Parts: sequence; C-alpha cells; structure tokens
Amino acid sequence: MVAFEADYFRALETPRMAVLSPNLFAAAFPLMKLMPARHILDRAAADGALQTGMRIVETTSGTFGMALALLAAARGYRLTLITASSLIDAKYRARLEGIGATIIITEDPDGNGDQLRRLQRLEDIRQKEMDCFWPQQYDNPGNALAYARLAELLVRRIGKIDCLVGCVGSGGSLCGTGAFLRAVFPHLVIIAVDTHRSVLFGQPAGKRMLRGLGNSLIPGNLRHDLVDEIHWVGAYPAFGEARRLLREHGIFQGPTSGAAALVAKWAARSRPGARVAVIMADEGHRYAETVFDDAWLASLPGWPGTPPSEPILLTAIEPASEADWTRFPWARRGLGQVLHARFRDEGFSR
Ligand SMILES: Cc1ncc(COP(=O)(O)O)c(C=O)c1O
Repeated sequence: MVAFEADYFRALETPRMAVLSPNLFAAAFPLMKLMPARHILDRAAADGALQTGMRIVETTSGTFGMALALLAAARGYRLTLITASSLIDAKYRARLEGIGATIIITEDPDGNGDQLRRLQRLEDIRQKEMDCFWPQQYDNPGNALAYARLAELLVRRIGKIDCLVGCVGSGGSLCGTGAFLRAVFPHLVIIAVDTHRSVLFGQPAGKRMLRGLGNSLIPGNLRHDLVDEIHWVGAYPAFGEARRLLREHGIFQGPTSGAAALVAKWAARSRPGARVAVIMADEGHRYAETVFDDAWLASLPGWPGTPPSEPILLTAIEPASEADWTRFPWARRGLGQVLHARFRDEGFSR
C-alpha cells in the first residue's frame, strides 16, 4: 500500500517534458510542490519530529498547501493552513477543506499577502499546541534539497544545460535546482522570475495581482548569490503567455508557468547557441474561471493592452504596472550588495 501511495504522488511531482523551440525545454509539473512537501514530511517522520495523528501547520497561499493536504490525507496527519484573504478563492478553499484541511484566513488590507501577519498567527497556534509540526517551506533547507531529483531528471532528459529559468516564491525550486545543476555545469546562467511589488529582489512591497510567485518577506531558501538576472513579469503578460502555451503548444499550465515561459522564450531567442530549461510549477485547472475565462479577462481594466515582446532593461530597481515586463542584471550578488550599491549611487547623484 505504501508503494502505491509513493507511485501516485511521484506521478504528480514528475514534470512532463516539452520542447518549446529547438533550444528551449520545459519541465511542466502537475503539482511541483509535492516534491518539497513529501521530502520534508519524509525527513520529519524518519527522525521522529512528525508522527501519525499529529497536526501540521503552515502558512501558504496555494500549491504547497495542496501538496500538504494530499499527503496529510494519505498519511493520517491533521493540517491547518494559514492564508490571507487576498490569496485564496472560495473554490480552492472548499477543495482544501474537502481534503480535510482547516483553513485560517488572516486580514490582508494591503493585498500583498501579509506574510508577517500569517507567521504571527502560526506562532500563536504553535504556542497553544506544542507538539505540532511546522514544515517551514520558506526557510527549511529540505525545500531546496528536494530538487536534487529535478536536477537529475533535467540532466537525464536534456543533457547539457546552459541556462535555467524559474519563478521564485520561497526560492526552493529555482535555487535548489540551480545549485545542483551548477555543480554539474559551472557556466550555468540562472534567471529568476518575480513580479512587481514583491520584495524578493529589492522592490518595495505592494499589492500584487499575479500570485504563486513573489513574497512580502525574504525567505531563507532564496539564494540571491546564485542569480545572474532577475525579471519582473506583470499579471497581464503572464496570463497572456499561459493562454499562448495552451493555444500554441497544447500545454495547460497556470499563470506563473506563463511568466516563466515568457522569460525563457526570450532567453532562448537571445542566446541561440544555449540550451535553456524552464520550470513550470502547476497546471491550469485552478485558473479555469479566471486566466482561461474570456469574460473574466475582459473585465480587467486595460486588458490586454499591448503585450510586451521584450523586457524593459532597468538601470534602477523599481515597480511597474501589471502590463509591464522588466529585467535587471543581478550578477550573482547578495541582496545587501545590490541595495547598498543602489543607495550609494542615489546618494552620489543627489
Ligand atoms: C504556482 C507556483 N509557481 C511558482 C512558485 C514558486 O516556487 P518556489 O516556492 O519554489 O520558489 C510557487 C510557490 O508556491 C507556486 O505555487
């Protein structure tokens, strides 16, 4: 029976590979977050930190919560997920509750997911119920380490890889996969994909329309020093590209996959001699009534605008509109280094 559980979850956490252009290879997951969730729970069960019947608590807006809910149902754990009002819709909530999760929703007046408020709520629960298990996807090194399996799979399926593109939320998938791949291919260029008003790469926090990537806090699993270039993709180009993936390639993935594909196509075009791999985190079903619904899209102010064909090269890190796509050469620096350079330059120019 345990072997069947492993087979089932392994299928959900194994990407389908697709060739988007002669030098662009996509790893499209049904539910990527099962990989770190399963790895973290397996480790905790093995060292006794997690036992059957115990409660798992986590702050998550989506796919990591779904992965935990599936695993908790299969393995007999109780689960409490803390999310923000701007992050979860009624249907997804009902799906999670249907699998047995308890959902706590915190207020989010600024619409940025307010991670700090959610963590405070989580801490309150842990104070009351001492023996619950907190996977800590943002800071647990097990999140990034779980992606050794993806790195191995990419090398087996693609061979030499020169450039890796992926979204960043916790940092686990891009930095985990990227660190393993760079050990094999030291020349590997790593391109991170974020969205406007996420603080991950130095933008001021604000309301974000594109969910699943980005953050209002800096997670320990984000290794800025691995990243060569950062792109910020607004919701509109991400939605447009998710729909193009379906129309032109028959690939039904969510909007963060659209953001990653947009940047990866550009990377493959601008580096014709390089082999580019792109990570796509989840499939499209959850977005059937939004991103894949014409009437919903038509109700968005200014949709579709003029879809950008190229990113705008920024000389200073700043937010842009949901219709924009920007980029900045990060050059494997720490966040402090980049921000320090910015303040120094701004100081000089005043
Ligand atoms: C749909 C989706 N895309 C991308 C990401 C970013 O992945 P990571 O947390 O590994 O940085 C997430 C994270 O939850 C996600 O849910």
